Amino acid sequence: MSRIPMIAGNWKMNLNRDESVRLVKAIAGTIGPMDDPEVLVAPPFTVLSVVKEAIGQGKILLGAQNVHWELEGAYTGEISPAMLKEAGCTHVILGHSERRSIFMETDAMIDRKSKAVVEMGLIPIVCIGETLEQREAGKTFEIIQGQLDGSLRNFRENKGMPSTAVLAYEPVWAIGTGRTATPQQAQEVHRFVRDWLRSQFGQGLSTATRILYGGSVKPDNIKELMAMPDIDGALVGGASLKADSFTRIIKFRA
Ligand code: PGA
Repeated sequence: MSRIPMIAGNWKMNLNRDESVRLVKAIAGTIGPMDDPEVLVAPPFTVLSVVKEAIGQGKILLGAQNVHWELEGAYTGEISPAMLKEAGCTHVILGHSERRSIFMETDAMIDRKSKAVVEMGLIPIVCIGETLEQREAGKTFEIIQGQLDGSLRNFRENKGMPSTAVLAYEPVWAIGTGRTATPQQAQEVHRFVRDWLRSQFGQGLSTATRILYGGSVKPDNIKELMAMPDIDGALVGGASLKADSFTRIIKFRA
């Protein structure tokens, strides 16, 4: 079974309204052929609706960068899954390493979020990844396994995860540093994640689930990353902010 690649742009806390609309329109203008990957953009909350409007009936998918696990209530400063759905999102990035390290998000919080997101009919993109210190201490697989066990606990206990759910391996040392994991380093972890999926949910789901790589993905390294058997796409930060570089990543097959 072949998995349709996904290229997702994580805009982080960048771009104003005009820049966002201009960027998404420029990307939309280049997407066409059937063999292109699925393309997703994840803008800041305040421009989700306007980006959705700019996408119109186009094929670009809209994602948010974070969410709260409750549907409503006294949670000052938070955004609920229902609000994201209303804004036109289909996907939500969860547990990005910046959320984990700067905003103290734990696996348990990410677990609650993934459950809430799926209950709302949204698709989670759950991020995992080790720090440089953890890698150098030989703890990469232990850390990845702990994050998977903790962040997807609800799905594990119910022996079910939607096959649309996406995982993203983002080694923290490769994010925004220009230092990409080698395709072999990434593949090794992706394979580990796929084996973990098989052990928890069975062969079918393990084969169907897309695992994205993230961390300094650029037009000049996407092709070799995508050549790896367990890398099904990319979560792109810096290079997703310019139409030219993001489009070249989308067109990695060209
Ligand atoms: P980067 O970010 O491509 O700028 O390294 C990736 C990410 O944080 O998702």
